[in-house]
Amino acid sequence: MSAAPDVTTPALYLDDIPFARFAEMRKTDGLAWHSYETATGSPPGEGGFWAVTRHADVAHVGRNADIFSSAVGHTNLWDLEADALEARRSIIDSDAPDHTRLRRVVSTAFTPKFIREWETITRTLAGNLLDEFVAKGGGDWVSAVAAPLPIQVIMAILGVPAEDGDFMIELSNYMVEGTTDQQSLPDDAYGNATPTRLLPFGSPASHAMYEYGEKLGRLRASEPLEDVVTRLVFAEADGVKLTENEFKNFFHVLVFAGNETTRTALTHGAIAIADHPAEWRKLHANDDLITTATEEILRWSTPVLHMRRTATQDTNVAGTAIAEGDKVVMWYASSNRDEAVWDRPDTFDISRSPNPHQAFGGGGPHFCLGAFLARMEISVVLEEMLARNINLERTSEPTRVASNFVRGVLAVDLAAVR
Ligand code: HEM
Repeated sequence: MSAAPDVTTPALYLDDIPFARFAEMRKTDGLAWHSYETATGSPPGEGGFWAVTRHADVAHVGRNADIFSSAVGHTNLWDLEADALEARRSIIDSDAPDHTRLRRVVSTAFTPKFIREWETITRTLAGNLLDEFVAKGGGDWVSAVAAPLPIQVIMAILGVPAEDGDFMIELSNYMVEGTTDQQSLPDDAYGNATPTRLLPFGSPASHAMYEYGEKLGRLRASEPLEDVVTRLVFAEADGVKLTENEFKNFFHVLVFAGNETTRTALTHGAIAIADHPAEWRKLHANDDLITTATEEILRWSTPVLHMRRTATQDTNVAGTAIAEGDKVVMWYASSNRDEAVWDRPDTFDISRSPNPHQAFGGGGPHFCLGAFLARMEISVVLEEMLARNINLERTSEPTRVASNFVRGVLAVDLAAVR
């Protein structure tokens, strides 16, 4: 068994993904054992996890959900206590048959056909944000474009009133902070009285998100609309309604997953475009490359760095014996740079095809529900930038989030040049 270099200490990620450490692990035979003892911020006595860093192994773990459970322990690195896991459990931390039932409630709202209906609205929103950004000559791309667009789109789909957008962004930012080792909110923020360990990301902002969702749910229960919150309120999968806990966690996960990740992809995408002007010129010359450019931005940005599973039986991955109960962590941060899959994986190339990246997970039942939505948003932003002949130039280093879970950027200044 080979020991892995530390890839969990959050502060490492202030300098970006530790790509060299992951490359070292990809070279090891079998899986590398990552002890928690090497990392800061880890609870004592939890041992460690198997680091899955190669593309084929990530696909194997993701696709064998009966062997690699999402419901046991937690899908993040550290186990949650049983009551915390129950209180915080969402579609992400469930296995069949619950997972199948929950997924069925919303899956038709995120199909390509349904998502296409949101394209016109997305285009208008993106165009307005880009026009404002250009009028100012640029500035912080995150607050100007990358953060507001996904939140406005997911809010429209869910049925959250547009005027609450800033509040949703504020709450999401605090939740991202919850994935780092510093939290700035007092435990009783937003009137929270729940112990924070029972809240997603351990953040009182999650209490505020729960309360907001419940209030909106009550409104839709008396006056239903054609939106996803109404669907969650009236959903009867297999003749069973969502429980209160399922409802509020579903609302929470849709708001969070629907904005934070796409924001990150749009941010790293913009940075990559600014840093690789020749690639941007290639897209200008041939906008048929929008689809491949979108996929390359997803691979390059890898907004979610890992997801964890727990083995439900003794098994074997890449020749390494895994015991029942072992934690197995799929590092998309690594698999998306696997030299066995991509030529020059460290090169940003918008014409790559095929590009079987794992930004949305390794496949299997938990494959990102919002994948078509995220792709549509990224493509629309690229198209609207081309239509306005916007070129981006970097005027600052990104301010990164110290998180081993999301590749968050708080701010990055870009100049808009025509
Ligand atoms: C670039 C943007 C996005 C990225 C990189 C991303 C990434 C991911 C990843 C890695 C997973 C876990 C897959 C697994 O465990 O196998 C996931 C699941 C999920 N994503 Fe996304 N996501 C994005 C956008 C969205 C959007 C826009 C939504 C909005 C609805 C969304 C909703 C979800 C949900 C609900 C799940 C859980 C699915 C399940 O457990 O069945 N995501 N996403």
